[in-house]
Amino acid sequence: MKKNLVVIGTQWGDEGKGKIVDWLTDHASAVVRFQGGHNAGHTLVIETNGVQKEYKLNLIPSGIVREGVECLIGNGVVLDINHLISEIQTLEDDNLDVRNRLFISPGCPLILKSHVLIDQAREEARSTEKKIGTTGKGIGPAYEDKVARRSIRVYDLFNPEALKEKLTDLLSHHNFILEQQLNASPVNVDEIYNNLVECAEVIKPLVTDISKKIYDLNQAGENVLFEGAQGALLDIDHGTYPFVTSSNCVAGQASAGSGTGPNQLDYILGITKAYTTRVGGGPFPSELDIDEPGTPGYQMSDIGKEYGTVTKRKRRCGWFDAVALKRSAMVNGLSGLCITKLDVLDGLDEIKICTHYELDGKAVDIPPLGAEDVSRCKPQFITMDGWNGTTFRVKKWEELPTEAQNYLQKIEEVTGIPIHIVSTGPERDETILIEHPFEIN
Ligand code: GDP
Ligand code: IMO
Ligand code: MG
Repeated sequence: MKKNLVVIGTQWGDEGKGKIVDWLTDHASAVVRFQGGHNAGHTLVIETNGVQKEYKLNLIPSGIVREGVECLIGNGVVLDINHLISEIQTLEDDNLDVRNRLFISPGCPLILKSHVLIDQAREEARSTEKKIGTTGKGIGPAYEDKVARRSIRVYDLFNPEALKEKLTDLLSHHNFILEQQLNASPVNVDEIYNNLVECAEVIKPLVTDISKKIYDLNQAGENVLFEGAQGALLDIDHGTYPFVTSSNCVAGQASAGSGTGPNQLDYILGITKAYTTRVGGGPFPSELDIDEPGTPGYQMSDIGKEYGTVTKRKRRCGWFDAVALKRSAMVNGLSGLCITKLDVLDGLDEIKICTHYELDGKAVDIPPLGAEDVSRCKPQFITMDGWNGTTFRVKKWEELPTEAQNYLQKIEEVTGIPIHIVSTGPERDETILIEHPFEIN
């Protein structure tokens, strides 16, 4: 009996999705990306014969390090093919077999150089409090063109004449925005066209009907993993709009972004940090000061190595926010949680959990929609005892300090979602299994 398992970030991204997807690949034949683009940064750490190797992935699914696992890029992903080719090259330089296992949907809209320039120029023009803090990779403008029905999609690359016409139309629109609105230099149509035609030859052998591929795998009884990027609180509809990314990052998108029926998704795993981080602008009710040595926020930033994978920016850090998590659990229909980075809290005297917000004098236990109202919410906390021992690299529940077990049980209680996995270090096997998502009925 096949099982399709969706892995979703439940906070503002960087929860450790890549590590857990990789860990789960010993039970799956394929991993599918279904939204976002190379704004994602997923880190995998694999130890072989005592030597650790780190892999940083942006577009290529986190199945690539496990031999024989197929990696699929679904129609919901916006694709920068120059970035894709350089990511393939980097992995091949590490002696991984990539091209035999990587498949790309012909329906992916392309991210062009002009999308990147528009993204960056718009961000530059915003006043400090309005800056979204995008990754500057052209994600927002590329999704705008998709919805406006003027994107160049992967399959357009294989009809050079029609491509030239579509590209000329699209770039005249982009150049109007760049020159007239953003006071920036225009892009050159021929330069972009020639580059696309060159890249097309490289990716042509990888282009495959991804819906059909997943369908066929399932028909053959194979398990498939759907790898979310970003997190539910960055979702274009359900997140802290406008401080969000430009795609749907919730579990339902696994269906639309890969061409798989929603009734085929069997289990939704919510990846959740034992505390909270956010990179970029926008409200963050449980945020702490991260610059004062000796404080919990400083420890999260320092021990948690909370720097963006893509932009190298310092991530903002704060206490675990059960209120935000409840919205995430609701909009994703979570089956179970995986709590990551528990080890980062080792040695703290006290650990807080935000259990509700105060908004206009009233207690709320589910966040309002949109950034304005969330920014007016005042977090209310309960305090738990910290632990003296270490949780780093612990692989069995019984070996966790009692206070750490109590903390995890409190998270289950306040969120109402069972914890099925706990991560205690960046390495693949630094993981505690409580119930295996592929083995639960
Ligand atoms: P993703 O975007 O959700 O895949 O997460 P990132 O890879 O951007 O960020 C998570 C970071 O935490 C990476 O550097 C991981 O190697 C690291 N990490 C993942 N799980 C753990 C854990 O349990 N403990 C520690 N200390 N680090 C972890
Ligand atoms: P992974 O998959 C954390 C954030 C950016 C910015 C906002 C919009 O590694 O968890 P965008 O470039 O998407 O238009 O930026 O979204 N953001 C992420 N934050 N992790 C990510 O991905 C992110 N991808 C985008 O920082 O606030
Ligand atoms: Mg990341």
